[in-house]
Amino acid sequence: MNKRLNPEQIKACFDVNRMAHLIEEFSEIGADPNGGVTRLAFSREDLKARNKIIDIFEKKLQLKVRTDALGNIFGRREGEKEDLPVLMTGSHLDSVRNGGKFDGSAGVLGAVEVVRVLNKLEIRTKHPLELVVTCSEEPNSFGISTFGSRGMVAKLTRDDLKKLKDEDGRSFQEALAFVGANLDEIDQAVLKPGEIAAFVEIHIEQMPNLYEKDIDIGIVDGITGICRKNIKIRGEASHCGTTPMSKRKDALCAASEIVLALETAAKEQNGKALATVGHVMVFPNAINITPSLVDMIAEIRSFYPDYSKAISDRLDEAAEETIKRRGVGIQTEVNYDTKPVHFSGHVKEALRKSCQFFGLSHMGLYSMAGHDAAHMAEVTQAGMIFIPCRDGISHRPDEWTEPSSIIKGAQVLLGALLLLDSS
Ligand code: GLV
Ligand code: MN
Ligand code: MN
Repeated sequence: MNKRLNPEQIKACFDVNRMAHLIEEFSEIGADPNGGVTRLAFSREDLKARNKIIDIFEKKLQLKVRTDALGNIFGRREGEKEDLPVLMTGSHLDSVRNGGKFDGSAGVLGAVEVVRVLNKLEIRTKHPLELVVTCSEEPNSFGISTFGSRGMVAKLTRDDLKKLKDEDGRSFQEALAFVGANLDEIDQAVLKPGEIAAFVEIHIEQMPNLYEKDIDIGIVDGITGICRKNIKIRGEASHCGTTPMSKRKDALCAASEIVLALETAAKEQNGKALATVGHVMVFPNAINITPSLVDMIAEIRSFYPDYSKAISDRLDEAAEETIKRRGVGIQTEVNYDTKPVHFSGHVKEALRKSCQFFGLSHMGLYSMAGHDAAHMAEVTQAGMIFIPCRDGISHRPDEWTEPSSIIKGAQVLLGALLLLDSS
């Protein structure tokens, strides 16, 4: 921690009104009539938010901006020693459909406030500091989430991505080009070993622990493993008035059995795992035709790989049973599989010391939501700062975090970055 300044002097440079104003400005981009935000990755709203943050990085923070081939935006503040690896912080600006104002934005705007304060106090870190806005953290219209961070740690294959088209027939390549990225060059965006000294992300907790206990800061111990399976069920379309019940191959009825089998399997794991089917597409999706195809995604979350596997196996068994009983075709394919992550002790220690320095209450906790930091942890020491959100609600229009909570998160981030800079 900087020896010349006491915590009160540093705190006085943070501006809660400025934060509240900035949140409102971003919330207007993709604002829904019911108060929420829809800023889907690769949409016009996403592009508008991206351009706005680039403007802030350049004009308000004097950062040097670049966008990589994955569509991640970086704002760089030079350090005293240019050959040192980068201290990186940030989050995402895309949202889920009809989501809230804070999931992602809190981490980006909190990081903006940190640089404003560093600039005001004329503190130059030894390491270069980069703010990152990751591209497409939430599941996009191609069924891919944490795209930018997974790309940076070389977990994506260009040829697989090239085949993707969304429901509107847009190719993944076109979607990326829309935000100034380039699928052909994503290999160049892979981080080199040792390039990042540490990665720290502020995020709303999305669970009620901090809010209910009235604790300022969560120091995140780790992130759940997430496994997603694409499931395609092929039945037969037929006239629903003229095809007897005994002659049908209804793909949606078959899908329903699998959805319920997944729920039962998850409930049997004594709270150690969760499973959901939240995305279902039915074809031809017509009132008077039996469904011929269901395309859906099953998701399993757990810190315990054995429990995830038990559910996944149960899903496969249910699929086999349904094939036999109903004569439908079923294909399953894993499209996302991240192991549980445990964050760096060194970063957690820096976060604890920073909380103490600023007199903020804190506790350790685990995240059942997925984050870019889980992928960044594969290439650098990573950590996360959670801040309370009302009733732990998120991915909903009434998601709410006090601007003062984002400011506290930013204070802890600033302190931790300075500690990591000097260690
Ligand atoms: C991210 O929001 C996730 O947990 O899916
Ligand atoms: Mn989210
Ligand atoms: Mn998020």
